[in-house]
Amino acid sequence: MPVTEAELDVKVAGKEPVADGVVLLSLVRPDGGPLPAWTPGAHLDLLLAPGLVRQYSLCGDPGDSSVFQVAVLRERDGRGGSAYVHDRLAEGDTVRMRGPRNRFGLDESPRYLFVAGGIGITPLLPMIEEAARRGSDWRLVYGGRTRASMAFADRLTRDHPGRVELCPQDETGLLDLDALLGDPRTDTLVYCCGPEPLLAAAQERCASWPKGALRFERFVPSARNDAARNDAARNDAATAEGAAEGAFEVELALTGTTLTVPPGRSILEVVEEAGVAVLSSCREGTCGTCETAVLAGVPDHRDDLLTEEEREAGDIMFICVSRARSERLVLEL
Ligand code: FES
Repeated sequence: MPVTEAELDVKVAGKEPVADGVVLLSLVRPDGGPLPAWTPGAHLDLLLAPGLVRQYSLCGDPGDSSVFQVAVLRERDGRGGSAYVHDRLAEGDTVRMRGPRNRFGLDESPRYLFVAGGIGITPLLPMIEEAARRGSDWRLVYGGRTRASMAFADRLTRDHPGRVELCPQDETGLLDLDALLGDPRTDTLVYCCGPEPLLAAAQERCASWPKGALRFERFVPSARNDAARNDAARNDAATAEGAAEGAFEVELALTGTTLTVPPGRSILEVVEEAGVAVLSSCREGTCGTCETAVLAGVPDHRDDLLTEEEREAGDIMFICVSRARSERLVLEL
């Protein structure tokens, strides 16, 4: 795991509304220099205020290193990040950022189905442009509350006639996932981003698709992982999946030390307390920053990032939330 990643100040060079409740931020380096490289699906952290770190997907052009663009929805029941961006962050302000990093990359495929719900369109925008550039066969189905709330909808339909289907809920109802995902295909990768009910429904519909066909990204913990973490915090005897909640040992192979992780505390907390430098951001298993290589032992994965194959492989874990199924883990730290 890298123990450093780009962290720099960026200036808000533009802030404009692009849909009901959505603003587009353009971020540049104060000295006009180039920004770090990124690939479609990447996100960055904005360190908005002490204790207020939020992840936003990059939705601009990876070929343009002069500017980062992120679109931010004002969350009605948010935790303060989107309200800060909407109400306090102004053009000309400087904000600290970390990243970009990418756990939602666009793998090669002859065909893509992009499924977006609301602000979940943002990571898909550069993916769509990349798929179009590659000459892949692709289709976007984009749902939102109303047409006016759907950022970039006009641009998408204008630039890609025949490939984009807009589904404003007040006009067409909810996305018809049965029709979209009812027939598993072996030549298609499904990239899905949006609110939790959409992701959960897509996961359910894609259960009969080839392993790994569905790719998705969450920015809030899923109900399943939230429940597992709450169980851990309460030191219950077992989670619904039967994982042990007791203490376990973590050997840090590079540091040459062994630590005990007690019930109710995360590996990340224990490792930090021991003075070992580890990167972290969301601390809830959604951003990917604390990815750590597992050299031995069996992780109990509680993140919202790994695919089923990656979980089974067990060679990486996210130490902010995940624990151990074995009595001892050996980590590359
Ligand atoms: S800090 Fe975000 S996944 Fe661990």
